[in-house]
Amino acid sequence: MIELNSISKVYRTKTVETLALDNINLKVDKGEFLSVMGPSGCGKSTLLNIIGLLDEPTRGDVVIDAQGISNYKTRALARFRNQKLGFIFQSFHLINDLSVLDNVELPLIYRPLGAAKRREMAEEALESVGLKNRMKHLPSQLSGGQKQRVAIARAIVGRPEIILADEPTGNLDSVMGGEVMDILLKLNAEDATTIVMVTHDKRIAGKTHRLIRLFDGSQVN
Ligand SMILES: Nc1ncnc2c1ncn2[C@@H]1O[C@H](COP(=O)(O)OP(=O)(O)O)[C@@H](O)[C@H]1O
Ligand SMILES: [Mg+2]
Repeated sequence: MIELNSISKVYRTKTVETLALDNINLKVDKGEFLSVMGPSGCGKSTLLNIIGLLDEPTRGDVVIDAQGISNYKTRALARFRNQKLGFIFQSFHLINDLSVLDNVELPLIYRPLGAAKRREMAEEALESVGLKNRMKHLPSQLSGGQKQRVAIARAIVGRPEIILADEPTGNLDSVMGGEVMDILLKLNAEDATTIVMVTHDKRIAGKTHRLIRLFDGSQVN
């Protein structure tokens, strides 16, 4: 489902060059739940952004669902990303002045769907994370765990085959983190959604199928 071949990423600023990823090779099967661990600054977010087609590697190639990705600037790629991939971030990235329902509907705006269909899909996604009764709330009226569940609903509303989660439990206490993890495990088990998740929590990583570790941009296990 995901294939990275000899991926390197160099960030260049006027004064410094950072080798954020150094020759990474990785295959993730359809339906696999992979976790990624490693110290701060080792390249975890860079890896996720490259898998998620949000950032372009300096060298190497990315294949998602048997499609090689070469031109990062086309509208076709934006559509491909919107349909295949859902993102979840540590700090939720919800839009504060939109209701929960409108936040979840957002990724569907780029699809040829009517308003009623969009709303139905958003309600369904909220139902699956147990938050249908909070549709009219604003993000500021929710707990951290609820915000992250809204973010999951937004990530899955378009029924992506791949979910990329960057420390999704990093800002949550262990109870709320456990609830978020249970939702991800369920998505993976029931819908065979492929998930790549960055985490600092060994116990959470232990619930996934496979763990890889990064250190200074290289895979170390
Ligand atoms: N946009 C950027 N410009 C320059 N350097 C960056 C940029 N993004 C990340 N880096 C550097 O690349 C390395 C890996 O960063 P990152 O992938 O965010 O690490 P992690 O998520 O594991 O903490 C770090 O040294 C970081 O400082
Ligand atoms: Mg990071």
